[in-house]
Amino acid sequence: MSDFQVQKPLPGSSFGGLVRLRGSDGAHAFIAAAEAAPHALPRALADASGLLLMQDMQAMADAPELLVRLSRIFGPEVEDYRQTLTPAHMVHPEIPEIFLVSNTPPASRAPPRRPDPPLTADGRLPVQFPHRRGWHTDQSYRRPPPDISLFLAVQPVPHGQGQTLFADGTAAYEALPPALKARVDTLEGLHVGFSARRGRDAMLAGETPRPLAPHEQPQRQPVARVHPVTGRRALYLCEYGQMDWLEGPFVGMQPGPNGDGAALLAELMARLTRPEFVYVHEWTPGDLVVWDNRCLVHAATWFDAENEARVMWRTTVSGNPGAAYVGERKSWIAAA
Ligand SMILES: [Fe+2]
Repeated sequence: MSDFQVQKPLPGSSFGGLVRLRGSDGAHAFIAAAEAAPHALPRALADASGLLLMQDMQAMADAPELLVRLSRIFGPEVEDYRQTLTPAHMVHPEIPEIFLVSNTPPASRAPPRRPDPPLTADGRLPVQFPHRRGWHTDQSYRRPPPDISLFLAVQPVPHGQGQTLFADGTAAYEALPPALKARVDTLEGLHVGFSARRGRDAMLAGETPRPLAPHEQPQRQPVARVHPVTGRRALYLCEYGQMDWLEGPFVGMQPGPNGDGAALLAELMARLTRPEFVYVHEWTPGDLVVWDNRCLVHAATWFDAENEARVMWRTTVSGNPGAAYVGERKSWIAAA
């Protein structure tokens, strides 16, 4: 038993959960309770199809080690970004487990472009691929890939912009027509980092892929990935920027942006991001969202970076990728 209460699904969603601590609030009490009952939150995450929201965590902004402590509840390995070839300006200056997602210095990352048109015909935020672009699961270009991400709103932008979208890969897989389900069950995707210049747009623009070092090579991942905790399959896919469009996107299918693989990816991604599978999170200061990369995809949205400053902190938890990855060395670490 623990003192956590989980409201499921998340308000405005078909999945996910809102976690509260009975009788107290604030990050310090929350983390103490999580450490006292270390299985409670990971269990809640699995039971909520991989998405949890915790509110009122503002104290973490002044005590960033609390975010790292909470991350350790979710798995054995919290990424130290100083060890993983991450540019130093993207990493918290004192806490190397925190990755900075911000349009302010030092990270200075621009938000994604607005979809075209910016709203759907019925005036809603576009969520479905290909109207919405940028859907991915974190670091799928690594083997083994990571398990879970934590994302803290230190300084979000006002509601109506800078949302994060999440799509339920388990429900989307289960809703596939039987023939398509059978097809993806044995299929592998080929994932690669954006900097390899093997994305769809790079291929269509005729860019020359750069030679890749051994630790940058495209990595195969199952398209219908079995979750190591729940045993359920989920669609595990990215789209234009994080698949290898030179030799992929799928192993054994016609490659390239005009091949059979491209057509299948477009169909699967549109099914995965149908509005009934998508949750749109509007950020409030102190919100902390935990998501499971093994069974959800997510996308960032545009915000007015000229007039708004956004500061978000992310940690990445690894160590339980599933039976398919047992014993593998980390593909993304350059050999000594
Ligand atoms: Fe991401």
